[in-house]
Amino acid sequence: MEVKNVKGTKDVFGDEVEYVEYIESAMKSIASVFNFEQLRIPVLEHSEVFVRGVGEGSDVVRKEMYTFDDKGGRSLTLRPEFTAGIIRSIVQNKMYATMDLPIKKYYLGPVFRYERPQLGRYRQFNQFGVELVGVKNILNEIDVIRLGYTILRTLGLDDVKILINTLGDEESRNAYKVALKEYFKDHIEHMCPDCKSRYEVNPLRILDCKVKEDREIIKDCPKISSYLSQESNERFDKVLKYLDALNIPYEIDDNLVRGLDYYSETVFEFHYTSKKGINYGAIGAGGHYDKLVSEFGGPQLDGVGFSFGVERVLSVLTDDGFNSKLIGPIDVYVLPLDEGVVPVAYQALPILQAFGYRCEINLDGTKLGTQIKKAVKHNARFAVIIGEDEVLKQCLVLKNLETGEQQEISVEDFFSRPDAYLDAHEHECHCGSHDDCDCDGDCDCDCDCEEDDHHCCCHHHKEEN
Ligand code: HAM
Repeated sequence: MEVKNVKGTKDVFGDEVEYVEYIESAMKSIASVFNFEQLRIPVLEHSEVFVRGVGEGSDVVRKEMYTFDDKGGRSLTLRPEFTAGIIRSIVQNKMYATMDLPIKKYYLGPVFRYERPQLGRYRQFNQFGVELVGVKNILNEIDVIRLGYTILRTLGLDDVKILINTLGDEESRNAYKVALKEYFKDHIEHMCPDCKSRYEVNPLRILDCKVKEDREIIKDCPKISSYLSQESNERFDKVLKYLDALNIPYEIDDNLVRGLDYYSETVFEFHYTSKKGINYGAIGAGGHYDKLVSEFGGPQLDGVGFSFGVERVLSVLTDDGFNSKLIGPIDVYVLPLDEGVVPVAYQALPILQAFGYRCEINLDGTKLGTQIKKAVKHNARFAVIIGEDEVLKQCLVLKNLETGEQQEISVEDFFSRPDAYLDAHEHECHCGSHDDCDCDGDCDCDCDCEEDDHHCCCHHHKEEN
């Protein structure tokens, strides 16, 4: 008998391995830059972690968990998400007592949900996410959204849509639930079985229903904004103002309620339609919570976090031409001309990498011509050539392998602003005829500007200014 993989799971091989690793390492390194540290938790938890954490009213707990009794008769569950387990770990290890607040953790790994497999929906998939616990200020919340947005932008997703809503505080939600029950009272009989049980357990969840006929009824239901306490109203206003100030685009979606029970106040989702026009569902989602830490026996601390579905991020990036865009050519091939200069040449690597350039050093000790051929074969954009003469003069030669042009640059200049030389094609002319000119000297560089009185301030032509 042929044995196949379990439905809703998938093997990752070939190029896809490289793509997934690229995505995961970009997510991890950007989270580190935002000062989040990794927290690794078990895949297996006592079922109670999710029943208490995610909530008995959620679809995840009611229908989607892989739960079983172990040989000792304990009910265990393969994690269907991270947040509850992360908070369990923070509380159990009393991290709030030994660490400065807020606690900032990121995580990555497989999660399991017994859902109907379809486009962008698996039974085993991977999440990358963060939790910030001990929120002191709304800015902590904004920072978490900014982190998610930065990760997606850095991966090359320029047109990310952030849907945002507030669920208000408990008082607001209770008032809203009463209003929803009143509204759906006359409709519920004609709605889907899921909505019927949501009506009893948590009427907010009805807003998440995807059944077409139900959506018609839902579209005219009362909106949370009319039931928000003054505090929640002001809080949400502040969140939006900060997002505006940071130029983070968002759309308010007053039907966004999220499927997990722990949220209060701000909730959000990251959406992206790939260049092929495919929408795989939210590529990430999160929000604020205020009872989760105390639910696990910790102090009253608020938290906020989000998780990305790694497979969904991979799908949109693959559709958009992930291959050529991200795993693209080497930016710089560093070519030391003999062994004696290797230590100097090697110094270029950490500097270029810190600026985000993909680079490689050739340690073959071959002749310049051979080294250049190798760099060209690897599609490198630039070669940095360093020989004994260059070391003596404290300079290097930068060769553009696309145009063949080369220039001698002082090591100090290049190492302090490699982007000024490597991204020279993004050269902006600041000549006197443009509004944004801040240059007051003349130069006769060879940029395309046709103004007579041209003076260029770009780094590329630094010498000429
Ligand atoms: P969630 O919305 O259940 O939130 O899942 C987060 C992301 O995981 C989704 O936006 C989606 O990209 C991905 N995802 C969910 N289900 C599947 C599936 N069956 N197949 C593939 N990808 C899927 C949470 O899990 C919360 N813990 C997020 C959070 C963190 N809230 C606060 N902190």
